[in-house]
Amino acid sequence: MSDFLNGKAAVVTGGSGTIGKAIAKGLLISGCNVFITGRNQQRLEEAIAELTSDDANHGEVKYFQGDVCNDKDVSNLFDAVIEAFGRIDLLVNNAGTGAKDKTVDLDTAEFDRVMRVNVTGPFICAREAMKRMIPAKKGGRIINIGSISAISPRPNSAPYTASKFALLGLSHSLSLDCREHGIGVGVIHPGNVISGILDAEEIKRRSESEGFMNAEDVANCVLAMSSLPYHSNVLEMTVTPTKQPLIGRG
Ligand SMILES: NC(=O)c1ccc[n+]([C@@H]2O[C@H](COP(=O)([O-])OP(=O)(O)OC[C@H]3O[C@@H](n4cnc5c(N)ncnc54)[C@H](OP(=O)(O)O)[C@@H]3O)[C@@H](O)[C@H]2O)c1
Repeated sequence: MSDFLNGKAAVVTGGSGTIGKAIAKGLLISGCNVFITGRNQQRLEEAIAELTSDDANHGEVKYFQGDVCNDKDVSNLFDAVIEAFGRIDLLVNNAGTGAKDKTVDLDTAEFDRVMRVNVTGPFICAREAMKRMIPAKKGGRIINIGSISAISPRPNSAPYTASKFALLGLSHSLSLDCREHGIGVGVIHPGNVISGILDAEEIKRRSESEGFMNAEDVANCVLAMSSLPYHSNVLEMTVTPTKQPLIGRG
């Protein structure tokens, strides 16, 4: 592994969750200083306790409690990062949510909530990161955690699927707007990972028919993308359990 991340500063939104915590852990081991975010204070404190107990860490980890959909929270988050670490080099837009109801039963408000967390939130975070990365003239990177739902949707997943397609579009658009500043933007489309986003019944069904990856597998994809020098960018990466049906038929 290169030492490119050593001494750099990163934000991992949803860093108190399953995949976000694994990403934060990988970045810390690589020597990156990391802010994790989330809304629930207790989950954040538990994540910090777990992350700081790892002797392999070479970086410092802090948390910021806030909502990725709230302009003020996000602006304050990036101000806190600059104050603590003096720089911002990497944003991982990982915070995300899904909806449980079938399409015919789904409230408009629930559709809007998912779109807001999964699309508007990453936009706000990217904008606030860009505002600070661009004047620093050091380059940078933004990685959005999408989903294979942006390639092949599941039944009754209208808001989640629409949001992850939108996140793919947002990633391409941001990549275009960031390239003159040496800021790389990419999106990772993960397949199944056991996490709080899935209920017990769905985990059982997918275990039998599709299999699961570890959150660390997704984290390793983030590390591979973010360890590249800024003259290179991975625009999209798809990672699934090898047995998960995604493409092909018959
Ligand atoms: N698990 C999978 O199979 C899978 C597959 C493909 C893609 N993904 C994507 O991976 C990402 C992480 O999911 P996960 O599986 O690790 O789920 P998770 O364990 O439920 O974690 C979700 C994280 O997002 C945070 N969050 C949710 N809404 C937020 C908001 N409005 N503002 C700030 N933070 C918020 C949560 O913290 P609080 O609730 O405390 O705010 C939590 O830290 C998501 O984008 C998801 O779509 C997951």
